[in-house]
Amino acid sequence: MASTLSEYDVVVVGTGAAGMALALHLPSHLRIALLTKSTLNQGSTYWAQGGMAAVVDANDTVDSHVEDTLVAGAGLCRREAVEFTVSRSSQVVDWLVQLGVNFDRLEQGEHQGTDFHLTREGGHSHRRILHAADATGKAISKTLSRHVVQAANIDVLTERVAVDVIVQDGCCRGLYALNTKTGAVDAFQTNVVALATGGASKAYLYTSNPDGNSGDGIAIAWRAGCRVANMEFNQFHPTCLYHPKAKSYLITEAIRGEGGHLLLPNGERFMHRFDHRAELAPRDIVARAIDHEMKRLGADHLLLDISHKPAAEVLAHFPNTAKKCLEFGIDITREPIPIVPAAHYTCGGVVVDHHGCTDIPGLYAIGETSHTGLHGANRMASNSLLECLVFAESAAEHIRAAALTDQAKARVPAWDESQVTDSDEDVVISHNWDELRRFMWDYVGIVRTDKRLERAQHRCDLLRSEINEYYANYRVSNDLLELRNLAVVADLMIRCARQRKESRGLHFTLDYPEMAQHPIDTVLVPS
Ligand code: FUM
Repeated sequence: MASTLSEYDVVVVGTGAAGMALALHLPSHLRIALLTKSTLNQGSTYWAQGGMAAVVDANDTVDSHVEDTLVAGAGLCRREAVEFTVSRSSQVVDWLVQLGVNFDRLEQGEHQGTDFHLTREGGHSHRRILHAADATGKAISKTLSRHVVQAANIDVLTERVAVDVIVQDGCCRGLYALNTKTGAVDAFQTNVVALATGGASKAYLYTSNPDGNSGDGIAIAWRAGCRVANMEFNQFHPTCLYHPKAKSYLITEAIRGEGGHLLLPNGERFMHRFDHRAELAPRDIVARAIDHEMKRLGADHLLLDISHKPAAEVLAHFPNTAKKCLEFGIDITREPIPIVPAAHYTCGGVVVDHHGCTDIPGLYAIGETSHTGLHGANRMASNSLLECLVFAESAAEHIRAAALTDQAKARVPAWDESQVTDSDEDVVISHNWDELRRFMWDYVGIVRTDKRLERAQHRCDLLRSEINEYYANYRVSNDLLELRNLAVVADLMIRCARQRKESRGLHFTLDYPEMAQHPIDTVLVPS
């Protein structure tokens, strides 16, 4: 099938909360292409369970949310980014409610400082997590996608995998994307591209993420010439369901927020030995404690128990978790849930300002793809949906004001396939994919050492050269593009981790167990 060339005012890559919200905030006279790798309602936003942190309770304050975020971020958050995000949180809630998101409300008579039912998660000193039972992401994603589909100026282009942005004279001029339905790489002519492709947790063997989080936006921005920062801070969610048949199923942190206990295999609680906040300590501490206990005991999983709470309460708040666990024969109202930590969130990413602007004029990064300074060395639970929505709006403000969309669009070259053939060795892709995710898990995981990181770097270098050669010779496919991106982000993660000679937040190394006195970001600059 022949490649196509189309022209848009703005091309948004990714249909999570960040991408869809940006498209909806842009003025309706702009023609927008919204690209998704698969179809709408498939990515990390859709699967987010716990909720979205926001200051909506009269008894809560912006200062308190800011302070909690700074503490969780272990000295590396950028205060102005945190203040910027949190101070816009209630306005984001209003917007979502206006669009039709049904966050859980309190029963009549329960009203205290708000009508919303707020839950609690690790690191938050206040109940401030808005949620829709235990399927908050689904409620947000379905609402946003309904509006996106109805918007006459937005073309939702499904099964499109971004390949690279087109940069001419230092400015963004377009994008190449593989249409997996036709097999052709199409060109998009535009002065504005926004990368909202999520994070890179697929670089790890075990992850809570749905398919597709292969660091595409980060790798694309890096190749285009943008700085990337703090890629060593990979968040491992403490509690993913441990069951041979359960793929990537997260057990929401809200279970701990509502009084769930972490238990050793013998039924003993242990978190108080690691932190005075016990089960409600920030995620880095809880994941490391679980990892420590699993290694100490030689256990392949630990347990999370909420069965001491009234069954009706558990079922009302966690209907989806209860249903999912029951599919695997676990009744959460009567017995503990087997859990293990798994890669969950990429705290670093493409360096951006308050408007999601990268180093390249016209190229934006928002959501998990970006590094705004909000999360520091450890993201606090439920701050990510908030970040997606706040920065989607501020990026839209910038795109409107910068008026790049009014400027003439440059001609971009069609994708050149003259030098490549069809691959007859797809097994190379699947083997390299497995190898990469395994060595990342073994050597760049929850606990690191110089030696482990050196081993990972060595393997990553070999894989990258093999993948680059493959990419140069064969026609691209979704798997090849994802693998190529994963190899880039794995390299960025390892390089950042090797530069950090201390333990801070999510980066813990046995060789430098102490935290350095002066916190600094690890910023990588493309050569
Ligand atoms: O545990 C959870 O529901 C996940 C929340 C988050 O990653 O923010």
